Amino acid sequence: MSQINYGVVGTGYFGAGLARILNSLEDAKIVAVYDPNNAEVVAKELDSEVEPDIEALCQRADIDAVIIASPNGFHKHPVLSAAQNNKHVFCEKPIALSYEDCNEMIEATKQNGVTFMAGHVMNFMNGVRTAKKLINEGEIGEILFCHAERNGWEEAQKEVSWKKQRELSGGHLYHHIHELDFIQFLMGPAKRVSMVGGNVAHQGEQFGDEDDMLLITLEFENKRFATLQYGSAFRWSDHYVKIQGTKGAILIDLQDVKVVLKTPEKEERYLLHESKEEDEDRTRIYSGLKSDQAIAYGKPNQTPPMWLHSIMEKEMKYFHSIMQGAEVEEEFIPLLDGTAARASIATADALTLSLNEDRKVSVEEIVSKGVFQK
Ligand SMILES: NC(=O)c1ccc[n+]([C@@H]2O[C@H](COP(=O)([O-])OP(=O)(O)OC[C@H]3O[C@@H](n4cnc5c(N)ncnc54)[C@H](O)[C@@H]3O)[C@@H](O)[C@H]2O)c1
Repeated sequence: MSQINYGVVGTGYFGAGLARILNSLEDAKIVAVYDPNNAEVVAKELDSEVEPDIEALCQRADIDAVIIASPNGFHKHPVLSAAQNNKHVFCEKPIALSYEDCNEMIEATKQNGVTFMAGHVMNFMNGVRTAKKLINEGEIGEILFCHAERNGWEEAQKEVSWKKQRELSGGHLYHHIHELDFIQFLMGPAKRVSMVGGNVAHQGEQFGDEDDMLLITLEFENKRFATLQYGSAFRWSDHYVKIQGTKGAILIDLQDVKVVLKTPEKEERYLLHESKEEDEDRTRIYSGLKSDQAIAYGKPNQTPPMWLHSIMEKEMKYFHSIMQGAEVEEEFIPLLDGTAARASIATADALTLSLNEDRKVSVEEIVSKGVFQK
């Protein structure tokens, strides 16, 4: 196999983690990085070069693909620049903070014939793949309803991270788009949506400006529904997705970590991650009183825990295999052209409009306009 050379935009907590993993794979090399703050130390560790800006990195003739892990609000520029320079793209989630931006990014990557993979890492969890398999095998019948919660309590911050600033992160819904994306993967695109909530308990200088309580309802075709809760105003923290079918149900618990299939005949337990050790490690981290549970954030210079490292590695191995010419399975086509990620953002935009205007919103309203001003 010929070597694939990568560039990385944003080498903080996640970007450095992805870069380390890629650099350790056979026939993969990080040749250059760009980051306004953390580039030098990561470049030194990886024996790569530092570029002074995004254009310089994307214009390098020796780069085949660009990994983008800058703050959420700064994904669009590097994606467009990479596409214009015919580089393949792996972009962290949420790929953008508006449907309109997703459209522009998809258009640019499509026109230049490059891959545009979204960092929806839940797809690479063992237990998520198990759940999809059980559903495909008919174990729970037809899906009627899904419910997800990803919440916890946020204490006062010494420094308010970009992850708490709505303009840069999009707030809990956009930043934690994983659960919404997974539910739409299972149930198809939502038709009509509504959201209530707001900032109920975290005002002041020690907090960002995001809403800390978001309560979501999604309506699908044929009387199928989903509800989701996100936020940092929940003293009783939870992180799970429950899938209710006509014959049984599946729980994917990402906090008290396990996957459970329940039918009238049986109850079976599966791993969420690769090993019992990884599942227990994650449970221990989230039950620790020091963290903000499901809404905890990594910081630059930290390294991801074992379970997260393991799914990041699977994700990077997959992207690298595609770069080396492997064929994309049918299931993953929308993950690799940005369209699954765009469908999640369309629904998130419709939910935001619902909250802002205090009404139910049809997702078609966002999609047909193609433009959404927040
Ligand atoms: N898939 C997941 O589960 C997961 C987990 C964590 C983070 N992420 C995503 O990864 C991305 C980075 O998050 P993080 O946790 O590493 O944050 P971070 O704050 O640790 O790192 C962000 C880095 O981007 C740099 N930066 C700031 N402005 C930039 C710009 N304009 N261009 C390039 N770089 C810039 C910062 O200096 C910093 O080093 C985000 O999109 C986040 O949502 C995904």
